[in-house]
Amino acid sequence: MADTTASSATGLANPLGDELRTTRSVKPCVVVIFGATGDLTKRKLVPSLMGLAKDGLLPPGFAVVGFARRNWTDESFRTELADGVRQFGRPDTPAHFDALADAFTFHQSDFGDRAGYESLKAKLEQIDRQRGTAGNRIFYLATPPSSYSAILQNLAATGLSKETGDHFARVIVEKPFGRDIHTAVALNDQVRAAFHERQVFRIDHYLGKETVQNILALRFANGIFEPLWNEKFVDHVQITVAESIGVGSRGGYFEESGIIRDMIQNHLMQVLTLVAMEPPAAITADAVRDEKVKVLHAIRSFKPEEIDEATVRAQYTRASFGGEDVKGYRDEEGVPKDSVTETYAAVRLEINNWRWAHTPFFLRAGKRLPRRVTEVAITFKQPPHLLFEGGKPLQPNVLLLRIQPDEGVALRFGAKVPGPDVRIRDVRMDFRYGTAFGGETADAYERLLLDSMLGDGTLFARADEVEEAWRIVDSIVNGWKQSKRRPDEHAAGTWGPERADALLGPGRSWRKP
Ligand code: BG6
Repeated sequence: MADTTASSATGLANPLGDELRTTRSVKPCVVVIFGATGDLTKRKLVPSLMGLAKDGLLPPGFAVVGFARRNWTDESFRTELADGVRQFGRPDTPAHFDALADAFTFHQSDFGDRAGYESLKAKLEQIDRQRGTAGNRIFYLATPPSSYSAILQNLAATGLSKETGDHFARVIVEKPFGRDIHTAVALNDQVRAAFHERQVFRIDHYLGKETVQNILALRFANGIFEPLWNEKFVDHVQITVAESIGVGSRGGYFEESGIIRDMIQNHLMQVLTLVAMEPPAAITADAVRDEKVKVLHAIRSFKPEEIDEATVRAQYTRASFGGEDVKGYRDEEGVPKDSVTETYAAVRLEINNWRWAHTPFFLRAGKRLPRRVTEVAITFKQPPHLLFEGGKPLQPNVLLLRIQPDEGVALRFGAKVPGPDVRIRDVRMDFRYGTAFGGETADAYERLLLDSMLGDGTLFARADEVEEAWRIVDSIVNGWKQSKRRPDEHAAGTWGPERADALLGPGRSWRKP
């Protein structure tokens, strides 16, 4: 079947009507979801696919096969998915699910059972004939990581991972991608035994967020920022991912990972690389990822004796927050009373290259902070000579990239207060996505699913990026293990422990968004 006309606009619109746009076409394909009875499929994957259907971005030849152990039927699978789309999908998407329900089928098998993959193969061939999916397959690993190995081996053994002629076979791998560098390397080896790197799409959903993609647009589609984007003008950068929720029912999982593995190794490191990278030669998957990984190469691993000075970790404690009496981390379900797992971490990273030498990057992430906010704050140096207000320094200029919520970009600068005296006050220039573009914003998974169908790996983590990020994070985890210092504490609903302020050094303070 020929390519469809479905397309995706990767361009940047502006309210004046000038638009830079690239249009790409999606080939027909089948998406096989391993672990299809789980939460991710119901909450994210299928609602996102229906978001694509609503926007006319799915190819006409399209089908989904849910592969899982449970004894479900096509009918019970569809009922569950319809419910998911109603609860979690964008407005009007349930109607798209109803229209496409026949495209969803269920395949029951154990992940380790070879016969289940042989019958999957036969089923996929039948779907190709019936629905025009043209032999193109995407395998989505939405299972716990412990099942990845069996799935990958069976996909390779049955030839399902092979690309033949024009037909593509791709694999999407969910996080966590390992729990340290050794497990990540082992997993990359397993993936590579079945698929070529160009067939592999490692999901970090932060890369699918419009505002994260806008970091590249802001930097490289404009002439005014890039000349200032270096150690000569930037004093420091703060990257914050704060959440007001606690660990909830995920205490058992969180206890094993901590905020460093759950958020910093992946989401914050990815954002950091986009902020700090050099301009790529082109916006292609390898050109972009080559530059991102160079940033990680330029960050050296910590020595254990450096860790108490370069990082702060803490746990939230019981407090009244948002009108509620909330539990401390150690009272959460699945968390031992003597836990030393961090729910908050702040890290000072130095990027040892020409652009960033002497400009520290501060990363912080935490649960039970006062509000949910993700932002990047580029803080500029003060002017060399202060003319106003008897030389009293104003707040430095800050370029703020608001990733979520209240998506936008703001610039803080000093302005003259109207009147006969010369008084300067900080003001803000503010761009808001909602006001400028209106409309609904697609979920990050929509963009990532679409890109995997298009075969565009730009917004996915490459094996070397994942491994480099683990190298840095492992050195932190190792330092914490050897340190005599226990995690600090901070009351739930506050911006972390006091010691985090000292991390920034004199004259700097954490933003309290
Ligand atoms: C996930 C983490 O990757 O990201 C969660 O495992 C976290 O702990 C979530 O809550 C945050 O994602 P978002 O898109 O809500 O910022």
